Amino acid sequence: AAGPARPPVIWLHFQECTGCTESLLRATHPTVEGLILDLISLDYSETLLAAAGHQAEQALHDSLENNKGGFILVVEGSVPTADNGNFCKVAGKTPQQMLHGIAPHAAAAIAIGSCASWGGVQSAAPNPTGAIGIQEALKLYGISKSDGTALPVINLPGCPASPYNILSTVLYYLTLSQLPELDAKGRPKFAYGRLIHENCERRPHFDAGRFAEEYGDDGHRQGWCLYKLGCKGPETYANCPVIEFGDVGGNTWPVGIGHPCFGCSEQGVGFHKPLHEQA
Ligand code: SF4
Ligand code: SF4
Ligand code: F3S
Repeated sequence: AAGPARPPVIWLHFQECTGCTESLLRATHPTVEGLILDLISLDYSETLLAAAGHQAEQALHDSLENNKGGFILVVEGSVPTADNGNFCKVAGKTPQQMLHGIAPHAAAAIAIGSCASWGGVQSAAPNPTGAIGIQEALKLYGISKSDGTALPVINLPGCPASPYNILSTVLYYLTLSQLPELDAKGRPKFAYGRLIHENCERRPHFDAGRFAEEYGDDGHRQGWCLYKLGCKGPETYANCPVIEFGDVGGNTWPVGIGHPCFGCSEQGVGFHKPLHEQA
């Protein structure tokens, strides 16, 4: 089937660090220019928009008017639920207010990064802002599409999210005019279907019982398994070892450069756990 031509995208930033956008800016295949100039129509993005202030707000307003029910909503960042959400405001509006005004008119939402997927760093104990992810916020505030059906939300967790997972999700939609198959946590199966540990290049060392015991020791220098340094690869679902990302001029991934996976993409793992449960 012919895919939709340059689908409009509205990209909102809530409580976040912009690291997921930064990560996307470093993608090389395709590049972010290829994405926003040839593949999608990025109608509103606080980071990448040339316009500012009222002009930017006008771009958002125009896209909403022209593309009701037909745009993709990308959200980067979590929604604060404490103190009426006053911890985060853009153009005087809280994330809750923005979601109320924008989400009902979207065709689907993409939660980019762990913040938008399930609260991320900001939701770590004691979670002073009451940070939650987009899907939970839509449920909490009773926000659905204007026809009353639930807004489909695709979670692309990671801190930052791998840019290739958002690019692949967008290209999947462009090519097949449908959203990819998701797992029970709303993540595309093509990207989050396997544990890091299943595809890690250090797995033969794990299986043979060869572990780095501390940073800089012989085992670490020889590329042995990082399990004893706290690697969360055995409990984290993501495609980092297969796709790699994050290094300008040549991709790599955390374990590839000698750092244990800390489960940045996994709900309830690593820093996503309450502080007293973190190893
Ligand atoms: Fe930043 Fe991580 Fe949130 Fe992405 S998921 S915006 S990298 S804090
Ligand atoms: Fe598994 Fe981590 Fe060891 Fe790789 S480094 S084999 S993911 S425990
Ligand atoms: Fe994150 Fe682990 Fe991949 S820390 S980037 S899920 S290797």
